[in-house]
Amino acid sequence: MPDPEIADDTDAIVRVDSTTICGTDLHILKGDVPVVTDGRILGHEAVGTVEAVGSGVKRVKVGDRVLVSCVSVCGTCRFCREGHAGQCLGGGGWILGYKIDGTQAEYVRVPFADASTYPVPAGAADEDILMLADILPAAYEVGVLNGGVRPGDVVAIAGSGPVGLSAIMSARLFSPSHIIAIDLADSRLEAAKQFGADVTVNNATQDPLEVIRSLTGGLGADVTTEAVGVPATFELAVKLSRPGGRIANIGVHGEPATLHLEEQWIRNITITTGLVDAYSTPTLLRLLATHHIDADRFITHHFTMEDFDKAYDVFARAADTGALKVVLSRMPSAA
Ligand SMILES: NC(=O)c1ccc[n+]([C@@H]2O[C@H](COP(=O)([O-])OP(=O)(O)OC[C@H]3O[C@@H](n4cnc5c(N)ncnc54)[C@H](O)[C@@H]3O)[C@@H](O)[C@H]2O)c1
Ligand SMILES: [Zn+2]
Ligand SMILES: [Zn+2]
Repeated sequence: MPDPEIADDTDAIVRVDSTTICGTDLHILKGDVPVVTDGRILGHEAVGTVEAVGSGVKRVKVGDRVLVSCVSVCGTCRFCREGHAGQCLGGGGWILGYKIDGTQAEYVRVPFADASTYPVPAGAADEDILMLADILPAAYEVGVLNGGVRPGDVVAIAGSGPVGLSAIMSARLFSPSHIIAIDLADSRLEAAKQFGADVTVNNATQDPLEVIRSLTGGLGADVTTEAVGVPATFELAVKLSRPGGRIANIGVHGEPATLHLEEQWIRNITITTGLVDAYSTPTLLRLLATHHIDADRFITHHFTMEDFDKAYDVFARAADTGALKVVLSRMPSAA
């Protein structure tokens, strides 16, 4: 592919020093996200070095080391002003690796560079900061904050991929009484334990409803998050909720899921959905700096950019490979 060039005066061209693969990229390859057309460069997560800036870019300078957020922020539309840049009306939102070419390349054009990037803090490891491009803000905002996790809550999380694990990590900030991780892959459940789930359920062999009922006097979970993106886990999440509970969907869905309103109309549940807005990135940077969250635990594999096919394969076969986040760097990694 040709290297990108400045197209708008608010653009920056960023040399990608490290990038990673998201579960959403797997959904795209599966055909779940038809907006993505053939030939699109995927990727919406990067840490890199600014190579060039348009004449309208004020804060970001050539040579700056930046986190490229998965959400681009025009900064002036109604939704950006309300902190909901995921719904940006001014040409931002989730566009990288979706509507425009993304970060899984040597260089990326970053629109609205001033508001869509964050300086990499001095002394921070690139790959730790990379975890703040998407998975941590997505799980924290769309799972934990939308789910309204409060101290003492019983929190059930369907899916222990990087996003589900981020939900476990950030739910813990609110001192829930139990975190129940549900996944089909034992390797991912093992990771869930390390990230702070006190109960793990492999739903291929065990019924999560029974486990959660036994922990809650038969009631169900206070908060349930869906971090997979298939109908079965959305339907499961609803089933696991207590009356009056909250169900926060994070997963990207490509097929319709059934809402059993004939059972649920009477149960006072709240269901939220959302695309990450990344308004929590500054908060998460502070939590990382003060060790309240720990990003390096996500990184299981390193590759150079020559090995993208291998990296996709390892990430897609996580049950066998134990992959959580795979980092692709421009230089051979020391680790
Ligand atoms: N809403 C947003 O803004 C946003 C942002 C980022 C990611 N996402 C979505 O979050 C989801 C998770 O992302 P990820 O990177 O962790 O993906 P991933 O593919 O690495 O993880 C998904 C996990 O779900 C498990 N799983 C699959 N089917 C299951 C089933 N029937 N029951 C239980 N577990 C099952 C898999 O074993 C895997 O561990 C994806 O749908 C992704 O597209 C949404
Ligand atoms: Zn993503
Ligand atoms: Zn906007």
